[in-house]
Parts: sequence; C-alpha cells; structure tokens
Amino acid sequence: MIDTHSHILPALDDGARGVLESLKFVEIAASQGVETIFATPHAHDGVFNCDRKKITQACALLTGALIAKGISTKILPGSEIRVNHDLVTEYDKGNLLSLNNSGKWLLLELPPLFLCTAISMMLRQLKDRGVTPIIAHAERNPTILNQPQLVDEFIQNGAVIQITAASLTGDFGKFPLKTAKTMVELDQVFCLGSDIHPGREYCMANAKKELIRLAGRTKAELITSENPATMLENTKFPYKNVLSLGIN
Ligand SMILES: [Fe+2]
Repeated sequence: MIDTHSHILPALDDGARGVLESLKFVEIAASQGVETIFATPHAHDGVFNCDRKKITQACALLTGALIAKGISTKILPGSEIRVNHDLVTEYDKGNLLSLNNSGKWLLLELPPLFLCTAISMMLRQLKDRGVTPIIAHAERNPTILNQPQLVDEFIQNGAVIQITAASLTGDFGKFPLKTAKTMVELDQVFCLGSDIHPGREYCMANAKKELIRLAGRTKAELITSENPATMLENTKFPYKNVLSLGIN
C-alpha cells in the first residue's frame, strides 16, 4: 500500500514529536503492508508553514534513521497545503511543495467553510498548469458533509479525492463514515491516507479491509496501491548522502 497523507516527520508540525515517534509510526505502517509513505506536514495554514527545505531535510533525517534500523519503507516528500486565496499565485512562485516534488500532484486541505465557485476556479487553474489537485479528507470537511454534491463538481474541475483511513473505520464518527462510504460506492475516491498524528490509530490495513467489503478487492487495490503509484512516476531516491548526514 501507499499512504498518501501523513504527519510522520519529526518535530515539524503537530505530527510526530521526535524521531522515535516517527520510527514508531513507520514500523506500524510497515507491519500493515505500507511500503511507501508521503510525508505531508501542514503548509501555508498560518500556524505550521513547513517549507520545502525543512521538509526535505526531515525526510532525509527519517530515511537515514530507517536505513540504520534496516526498515525499507520509503518516505517521500510532500505537504498538506491549506487553501487560501493566494493558492495559485503561491504555486506560480514555486512556493508549494507537491507530492514527490514532482510538480504534478498537490495535496490540498480545504478550509471548513468555503465558496464553491472560488475553489472550483482554483482547481481548474491548477489543472491548466498540469497539476492534479488532491482534496484531502474530503469526507471530514463540514461544507462537503452538508453538500456532498460538491465532490462531483470538484472532480469535474480536475481534482481527485482522498479519504482518511480512520474515517472508514468509524474513528471520526458516523457522518464522516457515512460520507466516506457513499464516496466509495459512487466511485469518487482516488486514494487513501492515514493522516497519522499522535493520539490517532494507524489503520490503513483495517481501512483496506473495509474498502474490500464495500467495493471489492480490485477497487480496494486501485485506491490503496495502483492509483497512488501513478504519483511515483519518475521517482529517484531523493535524498543524497543520507548516511553522510551522520544520522544513525
Ligand atoms: Fe493532515
């Protein structure tokens, strides 16, 4: 499996508080069959503004620690970008870190309340630039919970939908669970992420079981592996000289 959303990097945002906690998260992920994890700390949200340099350095640090422990899970850089009015301008300035630093996939966190027309326009503008916007945890957004028809509109405007593993296991309550299930049944879900933070259960394996139950094994494989594998195209191991950083 590929985890497309996580806060596993040490001491960057409200995610892992140190390398030991990062390692614990990765070990649990590996035990559940996750081979690749996108590290997506919060960015441009006014509280945590993790930038490209900090994220890449933290990925290298964690990768070094994993190599030292003999854990083969791959950690790829990314960020969870809060959508503000200047989203496209910031993209054009080169200030937004895409998944795998590919310039092709941007993980976006919508604000709790938003104007649909404005969001749709930004999604289209990104798509016009060759970027596919990924709407993070769409099933937990209050506006989408009230107007689930927006999901289809966002897809029509070029976005893909990511849901959180713990929504499918019911850990975020009955409304995100119901909405996530409906999205799966309507074939609206492109990928799955753990969105792991301290205090939350890592549950990619149980979420995959739920996907199999809801939509069958073929669809579950698409959502957990095959669709996100398209985000790995042209991946080169991105951290040079990890061992020379003296991390062990
Ligand atoms: Fe997140």
